[in-house]
Amino acid sequence: EISTSGKVIESPCGPIIHGLEDVLIKVTSISDIDGRKGILWYRGYRIDDLAKYSNFEETAYLVLYGKLPTRSELSEFSEKLASNRDLPEEIYSIIRVLAENKVHPMLVLESAVSALAGFDPKAGDLSKEALYDQAIRLTAVLPTIIAAHYRFSRGLGVIKPKKDLSHAANFLYMMFGSTPDEVSTRAIDLYLVLHIDHEVPASTFATHVAISTWTDLYSAIVAGIAALKGPLHGGANEAAMKQYLEIGSPSNARPYVEKLLAEGKRLMGVGHRVYKTYDPRARIYKDLVRELSEKKGNMTYYQIAEEVEKVVLEKLAPKNLYPNIDFWSGIAMYLLGIPYEYYTPIFAMSRVVGWSAHAIEYLNEHRLFRPRACYIGPHDVQYVPIDQRK
Ligand code: ACO
Repeated sequence: EISTSGKVIESPCGPIIHGLEDVLIKVTSISDIDGRKGILWYRGYRIDDLAKYSNFEETAYLVLYGKLPTRSELSEFSEKLASNRDLPEEIYSIIRVLAENKVHPMLVLESAVSALAGFDPKAGDLSKEALYDQAIRLTAVLPTIIAAHYRFSRGLGVIKPKKDLSHAANFLYMMFGSTPDEVSTRAIDLYLVLHIDHEVPASTFATHVAISTWTDLYSAIVAGIAALKGPLHGGANEAAMKQYLEIGSPSNARPYVEKLLAEGKRLMGVGHRVYKTYDPRARIYKDLVRELSEKKGNMTYYQIAEEVEKVVLEKLAPKNLYPNIDFWSGIAMYLLGIPYEYYTPIFAMSRVVGWSAHAIEYLNEHRLFRPRACYIGPHDVQYVPIDQRK
């Protein structure tokens, strides 16, 4: 009785919009995407301008508060981040036990953020003031949790955050123990700027569903992290990098891609549900990857990706399939010496800002999410006692 034609399923109760594709869930003034022209705006500002002129802290302020900060607002915001970066010792203990037992960092992120709510007496407070404090705390601690996982899982001691380093530099410092060079810091910083928000993908929707029940912000962020963890959402940059490693050399790129496409397989880091042209974030990050590759003295993966890109533009662009941000970002993470399992946590490190901004925005025009499902099973089935069942 149920027939499916693309995104609409005809059911006995009426049409079902499969995956809520193109269904509007609210009005927003946080971010907007033009998927045809390849433009992304945060609070009305083009991502290209923010990438060129702003760092993570400034962009995070913009996304959370709706305006670019003045110098004094920015320094106050940066200080708040700095003073919130450290974790309670109990949370370090939780991370250590889980990391030593090889629990994936995304799961540890969920657990640590969840447990942190228990250390915040205002965790369930949905006043604006409390929510902004929590959004800043969550933004501040995610890099600390991820770096602590990296250290503990390798039997290394944790490195506490430094007050005088930027958000991006602090992350690399807590991971590797030395103050990073400028281009490495920029690689993380730009990645974070480009991932702060992207309208309402699955993880941001999950955050909305959770906050719509008036749960605490920590729990709503856990919902976002949980949804981001899936390979259809947060995991493609790792897959793209593994592809380049498999290709091995620029001259092998074309035959590899042509064979893969002939076999009907998908090229990782290519295609997007919304962008039907080159992903604007990918365009921006490509330049950074070239600069980073030059500075690190390893052009191999950039050159492989460039060769793959040529085939994509030739063979897939006519089907509106172009490189997305993951096409390039995995190379930067790889060159920074960051293991694969941390790629998606670093995505979360940035997107926590967008999740928080959306949760706060949604509470202004709040309505509990409670959709319906079309039941197609039987009704009033005769109950059979256990001994009489066949
Ligand atoms: N390589 C080759 N062909 C592709 C690719 C790809 N990466 N992506 C889509 N196609 C083809 C499909 O096979 C399909 O072809 P057909 O019409 O001949 O059957 C057509 O393009 C449409 O594909 P859909 O799956 O309907 O497109 P959708 O919008 O649902 O998919 C998605 C978007 C999931 C991102 C897809 O392009 C994909 O799997 N890409 C690879 C994974 C990836 O890079 N994900 C990262 C997204 S960006 C991000 O999350 C930050």
